[in-house]
Amino acid sequence: MGILIKNGTVVSASGSARQDVLISGETIARVGAGIHEAGHEIVDATGLLVMPGGIDVHTHLDMPFGGTTSADDYTTGTQAAAVGGTTTVIDFALQNQKGTLREALDIWLKKSDKKACVDFSLHMAVTNLHGPEGAETLGEMEAMVAEGITSFKLFMAYPNVLMVNDELMFRVMQKAAALNALCCIHAENGSAIDVVVSQMIAEGKTAPHFHALSRSPRAEAEATHRAIALAQMAGAAVYIVHLSNEHALAALKFMQARGAKALAETCTQYLVLSLEDQMPGERWEEAGYVFTPPLREKWNQQPLWEALADGALRVVSTDHCPFTMGQKALGRGDFRKIPNGGPGVENRLQLLWHFGVNAGRIAPEQFVALSATNPAKIFGMEKQKGALAEGLDADVLLWDPAAEYTIRAATQRMATDYSMFEGWTVRGNAAKVFSRGELVVDNGSRPGEFLGAVGRGRFVRREANAGGLG
Ligand code: URP
Ligand code: ZN
Ligand code: ZN
Repeated sequence: MGILIKNGTVVSASGSARQDVLISGETIARVGAGIHEAGHEIVDATGLLVMPGGIDVHTHLDMPFGGTTSADDYTTGTQAAAVGGTTTVIDFALQNQKGTLREALDIWLKKSDKKACVDFSLHMAVTNLHGPEGAETLGEMEAMVAEGITSFKLFMAYPNVLMVNDELMFRVMQKAAALNALCCIHAENGSAIDVVVSQMIAEGKTAPHFHALSRSPRAEAEATHRAIALAQMAGAAVYIVHLSNEHALAALKFMQARGAKALAETCTQYLVLSLEDQMPGERWEEAGYVFTPPLREKWNQQPLWEALADGALRVVSTDHCPFTMGQKALGRGDFRKIPNGGPGVENRLQLLWHFGVNAGRIAPEQFVALSATNPAKIFGMEKQKGALAEGLDADVLLWDPAAEYTIRAATQRMATDYSMFEGWTVRGNAAKVFSRGELVVDNGSRPGEFLGAVGRGRFVRREANAGGLG
């Protein structure tokens, strides 16, 4: 006895077809036309698209940052993900500069224990190297890979907090190359930005929008080029996170054309929000849009969409790092103290569908590739996640392309008291969501509710595959 999803259109990264999907226990037993109904529970997917559950590879749940802690813990964050059709997240564990990677991993596993509601994995952010020539920490990277943590994050921004220097970055890249691991890079020139920030503060420019104005697209482009060049020297595969603008995109493409093993994501906010629209001046509410890299001028959106369509950018994530407006108030009168980050994990698929597929910018198959299949392949979990195929986890999203949904903070699952997309009506929404074979969301009969048990989410061990670039 299984669950048989009938009458829907199965959309994969490579094509679409009228097919049935049979779930047996936690996995997909079969995908094909005309699977016999006898003995199975039938789920009628008439008018719906049947796709792999989304994978958001960039979240910050329960993360200490900017003098506070991100507002979604593993329960609210993964429930919000599920309600929006995302069935796996990859979150970031942060090494304390004085501590070990093992300690960081234990802290993050504890945060998620008995709380995660859908499956999750972790990247490990390396912030310091211990031992002669970093040997202790570099040695720990092997242990991390053995635990299934096969991607390492390096911050080129946030001086004195998370930022690493080029020596550290290069050593980690060399080690990652030896381990077939992937280096994820926050690419902004933090030192140059800090100079501009100090000058702005000295001039009395303290309102939220100066956060954005202090962080030039060129600072992102310079760091993007530097990170990829260093990775190429080290023989490592690199993945640029939250690429936000055309300058950085040009740097990425320049290095890709020269054979660098360089992949990149952008995030929904850079595709649909802009500096002019959201940060026009001196309003305090603009603190809700203070994240890093910041919003960019609107003209940057089109090149980002084109790069998603032509493959220069491979993933759309969210960089979900939510803070309430109360938390943002830490930076009233001084934009440096506004906790950086915005909420988005719940709305990623709605926005990508509405502004991508409905607008004719990407095909439904590309939507699947960008939201699930590429993330699984790049981050070494394609044997479990990211596609609807026999033997894979039954993370199945029934998507209603006709459903209209109005985004509102008052009805969202995320723990913030505002939405960056307040009042926007999108067409296309998750109808039903299965996580490892269990119906965890039914937006038709119980909209916005998470139906599974708290703590049911499992840690996903990933393979070291150098981002699939060999
Ligand atoms: O503003 C952001 N993005 N906060 C989260 C940390 C990061 O840089 O990804
Ligand atoms: Zn970042
Ligand atoms: Zn981030």
